[in-house]
Amino acid sequence: MHKFDVSDTLKRLPEQFFANLVKKVQALVVEGHDVINLGQGNPDLPTPKFIVKALQEASENPKFHKYPPFQGYSFLKEAVAEFYLREYGVNLDPNKEVAILFGAKTGLVEISQCLLNPGDRVLVPDPGYPDYMSGIAIANAQAVYMPLLKENDFLPDYGLMDKEDLDRAKLMFLNYPNNPTSAIATKDFFDETVALAKKYNICIVHDFAYGSLGFDGLKPQSFLQSEGAKDVGVEFYTLSKTYNMAGWRIAFAVGNPSVIESLNLIQDHMHCSLFGGIQYAAAKALTGSQESAHKLAKIYEQRRDRFIQKLNNIGWKVKPSKGTFFVWLPVPSGYTSEAFSTLLLEKAHVATAPGNGFGECGEGYIRVGLLDDESRLDEAVNRIQKLNIFT
Ligand SMILES: Cc1ncc(COP(=O)(O)O)c(C=O)c1O
Repeated sequence: MHKFDVSDTLKRLPEQFFANLVKKVQALVVEGHDVINLGQGNPDLPTPKFIVKALQEASENPKFHKYPPFQGYSFLKEAVAEFYLREYGVNLDPNKEVAILFGAKTGLVEISQCLLNPGDRVLVPDPGYPDYMSGIAIANAQAVYMPLLKENDFLPDYGLMDKEDLDRAKLMFLNYPNNPTSAIATKDFFDETVALAKKYNICIVHDFAYGSLGFDGLKPQSFLQSEGAKDVGVEFYTLSKTYNMAGWRIAFAVGNPSVIESLNLIQDHMHCSLFGGIQYAAAKALTGSQESAHKLAKIYEQRRDRFIQKLNNIGWKVKPSKGTFFVWLPVPSGYTSEAFSTLLLEKAHVATAPGNGFGECGEGYIRVGLLDDESRLDEAVNRIQKLNIFT
């Protein structure tokens, strides 16, 4: 069989670091081991019933059996505007400041194609969500890493950045509450970001995937709540985490009208918007009762409290995370991230994500997703305790 050579674009794509981990987990499962998989970011609980019902109802509506309008239904864009006003006090023009997306991942890859030319510089958090790099590689642009360090609460320190990088950067990716570090951004930090973006003419892309997951009474800040944010950037919001809709593939971008227009333009050429029934159910999710979303955040907070308490009890001293459903754990001395994660997988059958997979500055950490029920999380800690590492 002839093997066709792939394009240079595909050759540039970064290696899927976590594919290896997934393979190792699968191999253990096939061998019959009971693996507790805390290595991924796939919400474990179902979509709230009222949203599923809305899709059931919509699937019977012949209107939705036709092609949806390019760029999505206006009822969904209006629902997004209502959601942002209600949750964040941010006014959005549904026609010009909202783009409907096939999940945030798709939009986050597309935005690099919208705004970057080959060789352009892009500021990327390290550690960070790996898919920013996929879009940057397709655009043949150049990533410049912004270290997220514990001593700076995992926020980039703009004061330490190279002036030439700032002068040349066209785009900056940020993500708070943060995957993988679980850190939260302050309003002051976003204000500072807006000022920096104005000074250096950088477009800010704030990935707000975990916007609904703040703990200890803390509601995560939207980037668009900072004055002037819309002049300099956009925010991506997914329904995957807030409403357990990861499999539905629906998200949106909001903010700067010229960036929104460019996202809509690229999507006009690549897709013809999403199934209308999903858009209908998404609008119900955004405008209906938020009780299930609040309950979900509480469930993650309770899991976090219990998990961290148990880790501290076995001698693994860690601080509680402030948001997201991840905890970012420093590995014990003498181990690399990968060595420790491999040890937990092979000896305790607990899968975690080694921090170096998110960038160089993730070395020394592992990421645990609190995406199983409390008894399984307890069991994971019990198994780790038996390794006698922390005594
Ligand atoms: C930081 C971050 N951004 C974006 C996404 C992707 O969201 P979506 O399911 O909408 O593609 C994820 C999913 O894990 C994420 O962790």
